[in-house]
Formats: sequence, C-alpha cells, structure tokens
Amino acid sequence: MLRIEGLTKTYKTGDKALSDVSFEAPKGQVIGLIGPSGAGKSTLIRCINRLVEPSSGAVWLNDINLPALRTRELRRARRRIGMIFQEYALVERLTVMENVLSGRLGYVGFWRSFTRQYPGADITSAYRLLDRVGLMAHADKRADALSG
Ligand SMILES: Nc1ncnc2c1ncn2[C@@H]1O[C@H](COP(=O)(O)OP(=O)(O)OP(=O)(O)O)[C@@H](O)[C@H]1O
Ligand SMILES: [Mg+2]
Repeated sequence: MLRIEGLTKTYKTGDKALSDVSFEAPKGQVIGLIGPSGAGKSTLIRCINRLVEPSSGAVWLNDINLPALRTRELRRARRRIGMIFQEYALVERLTVMENVLSGRLGYVGFWRSFTRQYPGADITSAYRLLDRVGLMAHADKRADALSG
C-alpha cells in the first residue's frame, strides 16, 4: 500500500507545487491523477521516487517512509518503483531491448551494469514483456528509430 501524508513541495524558485497532499492507494489499485497543467502531478509522482525531494511530509510504501531513506536504502526501494516519464526518457542510441533491460540495472553488479551484461532470465523476461505490448519486432531497433 502507498500512503501519502501531508506532502508539501516548494521549489527553490518559491513555486509551491504541493500543499499538504494526503491520500492512500491500496495494493493493486489503479489510480488516475487528473489536473490542469502546472497543478503538481509530475511533482507528486517525482516526490514518491525522490527525483524531487519533498519539503515535508511522509510517503509510506508499505512500512517504509521513502523521504527518510539514505542513499543505499533508497536505491533498493527504487528498484520496486517504475516510472514512465512525460518526455519518455528513453536512451535513444540504445536498442529497444537495452532500454527495457535498463530497468534491471539496480539489480546487476557494477561491472555488469557498466558493460550492460544482463542475466539470461532478465533477457527472457524482457522478450516476454516486449511481446506482451506488441513490440517484439522492434526489439533490436534503436529507440530513436521508433515512432512516438
Ligand atoms: N524544477 C522546478 N523548479 C521550479 N518550479 C517547478 C519545477 N518543476 C515544476 N515547477 C513548478 O511547480 C508547479 C507544478 O508543476 P508540475 O510539473 O508538477 O505540474 P504538472 O501537473 O505535472 O503539469 P503538466 O500537466 O503540464 O505536466 C508549476 O507551477 C511548475 O512551474
Ligand atoms: Mg507533468
């Protein structure tokens, strides 16, 4: 379960993007966050994985308060958080397959990640996922060769 309590974010510029936001998302729940441009949707999502540091408040993922984690524990917690960026954030010069596999970088050791060598089970699972979304035929294409 995800529980957000009193989440507030004021950027250095003085922009107050979030003001005392609280809600609960039970396990398995699919939630749509709707609001006008500039309402703070991206800020809220980024405060969950701490790409943006909240000014105050708690973000409980089960029994872990994400804003309180140190670097190492944050890295571990982030393995379990997926995010699709508004601007995609694909690595354009890598293949579609390599982009999918990069989701596993938090699990492979430094040298394996440096040389982008992934365990066979990860590759099998990446193929399965690409097949599931109908992208199998594009697996070996560079990401910048895809349509939007
Ligand atoms: N890095 C930043 N520095 C300063 N202010 C920011 C920053 N990012 C966002 N803001 C401000 O915070 C507010 C919320 O922005 P945010 O990007 O979270 O909105 P959004 O709901 O995702 O909008 P959109 O629908 O356009 O994606 C806006 O006023 C924005 O100008
Ligand atoms: Mg946004």
